[in-house]
Amino acid sequence: MKCRVCREPAVIEVRRHNAGFCHPCFVKHCRDQVKKTVDAYQMFSENERVLIAVSGGKDSLALWDILMHLGYNVDGLYIGLGIGDYSSESANYTRSFASSRRATLVEVDLPGTYGFDIASGSKAARRAPCSACGLSKRHLFNSEAARGGYDVLATGHNLDDEAAVLLGNVLRWDLAYLGRQHPVLEAGGGFVRKVKPLVRLAERETAAYCVLEGIDYIVEECPMSVGNRHLAYKGVLDDLEESSPGSKASFLFGYLERAAPLVAGVSAAEREALHPCPTCASPTVSEVCAFCKLVERATTKR
Ligand code: AMP
Ligand code: FES
Ligand code: ZN
Repeated sequence: MKCRVCREPAVIEVRRHNAGFCHPCFVKHCRDQVKKTVDAYQMFSENERVLIAVSGGKDSLALWDILMHLGYNVDGLYIGLGIGDYSSESANYTRSFASSRRATLVEVDLPGTYGFDIASGSKAARRAPCSACGLSKRHLFNSEAARGGYDVLATGHNLDDEAAVLLGNVLRWDLAYLGRQHPVLEAGGGFVRKVKPLVRLAERETAAYCVLEGIDYIVEECPMSVGNRHLAYKGVLDDLEESSPGSKASFLFGYLERAAPLVAGVSAAEREALHPCPTCASPTVSEVCAFCKLVERATTKR
């Protein structure tokens, strides 16, 4: 197979674009896809300060690399979740990437700062580990971005992630979640702007980008995510993509173009009810925010 752009031998085939790419043209293709996404959704400009949430995995490290190459002003944020070797290894990959690029890395250690890890927190709050983890990460992403005066918080969610989340939301017809599922969530009500610049790249492509560009990342999945529903939705969509390339992209982008505007009002109404949490000042619709409740439960001796 030849590269679609320059006709040199291809190193990767991207079936949904019906194309092969050589190394330099693939790297350029990935950066172009991100640039196109940032511009199309008006995610941020060169003058704004971007904080990228970095897990040490392929997606967020590829995103950090790509945004630096595109000339954006980006720092990283790593959250230590206290998940044994998995957390210490992912921290090491993140730190070594940051130091190799002389990039700024902000670190928050959940056990060190808040007194609990994901295993003990989820047990005390009777939540699934991924639910306690997701809640903690979302809270810290926002509070750290606000504290550091960043204009925008970026995550490494890719096409596969977003299509799987969409499938889960559609299976439950969860209109509030659907209303919030967008590559850009504008700032407001105490939330900083949140963006997902990788939505046009599949998992396989971010992995190939890292391998080709010599970016080392943690390959293991989080040991606590075994059996979670999100992985089952990904499996279903992988089968569909295999027999019909382009299914994931048409599912996600068809939704964003045609159906998302119809449900946007549901989450806009929710935002009206936000007020600052009396304990931590983060926006919430409850009396005390869900993160402060989790901290309280996880650190109260029984
Ligand atoms: P996940 O929820 O693990 O699928 O990760 C989705 C995105 O959240 C990643 O692409 C990162 O941008 C961010 N993220 C996940 N884990 C961490 C972490 N420990 N610290 C900072 N950001 C993270
Ligand atoms: Fe959050 Fe695994 S990374 S439970
Ligand atoms: Zn709070």
